[in-house]
Amino acid sequence: MKTLLIVWYSFTGGSRQMAEAARAGALEAGGIDVRFLAAEEAQSADLLGADGYIFACPENLAAIAGVMKAMFDRTYYDVLGQIEGRPYAALICAGSDGENAQRQLERICTGWRLKRVADTQIVNVGAQTKEEILAQKVIGDADIAQVRELGATLAAGLEVGVF
Ligand SMILES: Cc1cc2nc3c(=O)[nH]c(=O)nc-3n(C[C@H](O)[C@H](O)[C@H](O)COP(=O)(O)O)c2cc1C
Repeated sequence: MKTLLIVWYSFTGGSRQMAEAARAGALEAGGIDVRFLAAEEAQSADLLGADGYIFACPENLAAIAGVMKAMFDRTYYDVLGQIEGRPYAALICAGSDGENAQRQLERICTGWRLKRVADTQIVNVGAQTKEEILAQKVIGDADIAQVRELGATLAAGLEVGVF
């Protein structure tokens, strides 16, 4: 059975809800194993042992959140050359932008020669003041539904081997 690995980091809950929605969609699609790992826990062996990936994290300071970056830094050269061609999708939670995080994450995945099989989904939560940024986030139903769909699509594609 194929394995989808979802690696996520979240500071105020938004990216976590997105990652959970993707997991729910993937489980609903069925037919594959779904692993759900916080970025702090994810190791090279977890990446090597998966057939496809979803990476979910916030944009912080015009970059992917440091904890997520540390996961890539920790594993990058260990797995380089061993996961080429595997499918992935990326989810970014941002206050008002997200594009730098998208660019950075996609660039890392291009370095690994992963295959992006869906448009990166950026959810903007409209947080710009200190209070808004530090508040716990609630991702709206429409965005949750879209991310859930992405999880289901990735799972279905992995199961039948279309990627
Ligand atoms: C230190 C810090 C820096 C941030 N920098 C950005 C940024 O550069 N661009 C942006 O769109 N949002 C930025 N934000 C807002 C977060 O992306 C937003 O709050 C998002 O909900 C975080 O996702 P999370 O709820 O999963 O932690 C920043 C938030 C923090 C805490």
